[in-house]
Amino acid sequence: VNNTVVLNNGVSIPQLGLGVFQTPSGEETVNAVKWALQAGYRHIDTARVYGNEESVGQGIRESGVNRRDVFLTTKLWNDDIRAGRTRDAYEESLERLGTDYVDLYLIHWPADGWQKAWKDMQELYVERRVRAIGVCNFEQHHLEELHALSSVRPAVNQIESSPQFTNQKLIDFTNGEQRIDVEAWSPLGGTGGTLLKNPALQAIADRYGKSPAQVVIRWHLQRGVIVIPKSTHQERIQQNFDVFDFSLSDHDMQAISAFDTGRRNGGDPDNFDF
Ligand code: A2P
Repeated sequence: VNNTVVLNNGVSIPQLGLGVFQTPSGEETVNAVKWALQAGYRHIDTARVYGNEESVGQGIRESGVNRRDVFLTTKLWNDDIRAGRTRDAYEESLERLGTDYVDLYLIHWPADGWQKAWKDMQELYVERRVRAIGVCNFEQHHLEELHALSSVRPAVNQIESSPQFTNQKLIDFTNGEQRIDVEAWSPLGGTGGTLLKNPALQAIADRYGKSPAQVVIRWHLQRGVIVIPKSTHQERIQQNFDVFDFSLSDHDMQAISAFDTGRRNGGDPDNFDF
């Protein structure tokens, strides 16, 4: 069974979900979502910019799982933030997803204009159009600025985090005085990453009779972050959910954290051009 995290507004979220970044729209996304829901996942994380919201909606409908039993996240893209069209962008995402609400709506990057976007998202939240709102890729200074101008605390900050780039300082700040839950993106080291081939990680995995991916997902869960690994393969989607029957020792948790290189795999929130 999946673990549940209660967000700071009282809404529950399954701690392990399926991410669909770089999952092509059409059959691949429809299948990935269906396979995940059939395997027991109840949390799907997409975004406007992934271009697959329609397929995510189709996958949920075809799975036979009730929409209300699925925690669904999408994100407001940078162009829409800059253009100040939060409410229209939200309606368009709902339309593509074929639903009348999402569980979590996130600012995708701290693009110019995010303060106004946050104001608009707060309105959607107060109007109960969305169950929770949050941000992605916010550094400490962004969170501090948001805190100063906002009446609604973000429920989530979704940031890059993996054993290669643990981002632990930002996680501690986000969880700590801000009482915001962290979601980890690129949790397995991302597409084309080398993490899962690391021999030291493989050695740990062998001792538990698990795969490197399962061990890394378990590491995220035991750190208390929400984790959304991506795969387009049914066997891996199932495997990545089979992580609730073992537990890493403190020693192994530390050994995995020590893979940290301090180097990001993806964009830098203080210097991005998309
Ligand atoms: P694929 O989609 O071909 O299965 P992240 O979630 O960090 O972005 O990483 C996802 C990457 O890890 C993708 O390239 C995905 O490839 C691969 N991946 C996901 N699950 C597994 C697994 N259980 N074993 C090996 N590779 C995996």
